[in-house]
Amino acid sequence: MKSLIIYTSQTGFTKRYATWLNEEIGGEILELKSAKKQKKDYFASFDTIVFGGWAKASSVVNAKWFFKKSKFWHDKKLILFCVGASPIDNPDLVQFKEAVIPEEDKQFIKFFYCSRGLNYAKMSWSSKLLLKMFKQC
Ligand SMILES: Cc1cc2nc3c(=O)[nH]c(=O)nc-3n(C[C@H](O)[C@H](O)[C@H](O)COP(=O)(O)O)c2cc1C
Repeated sequence: MKSLIIYTSQTGFTKRYATWLNEEIGGEILELKSAKKQKKDYFASFDTIVFGGWAKASSVVNAKWFFKKSKFWHDKKLILFCVGASPIDNPDLVQFKEAVIPEEDKQFIKFFYCSRGLNYAKMSWSSKLLLKMFKQC
């Protein structure tokens, strides 16, 4: 069984989870930027494709790219994981988990949420600004 892990990460937490997972299951690991450069044939050899993105305003960053691609990957095991700052017992996660995968894709993609934190030192100024705005709401 050959696996591919694709991830996108701003401050490093999702990258860390993707790396841990890769150490466990093996196979290939690619940052989304590199995955986008691959031709269609590249993905054909994998039995499992995992996409990891971070939570931003109750959605998963770049998950739309994965949903679009996954329409051609129904013969594979497909997994989406999301890393966010919310603790796993946050009651809002129930609704988040329900809404994160489009209805038509739910039968093909399994979803996992991983809790981490906020790393202001590595965050872009626009992310810091958005967080400040969310706090004021
Ligand atoms: C603008 C912004 C919005 C965020 N929204 C959420 C959110 O809705 N839920 C959540 O759990 N975490 C949220 N976070 C926290 C990030 O998902 C968290 O810091 C994550 O670990 C970042 O992953 P990375 O280190 O791979 O970039 C938000 C962070 C930023 C900067």
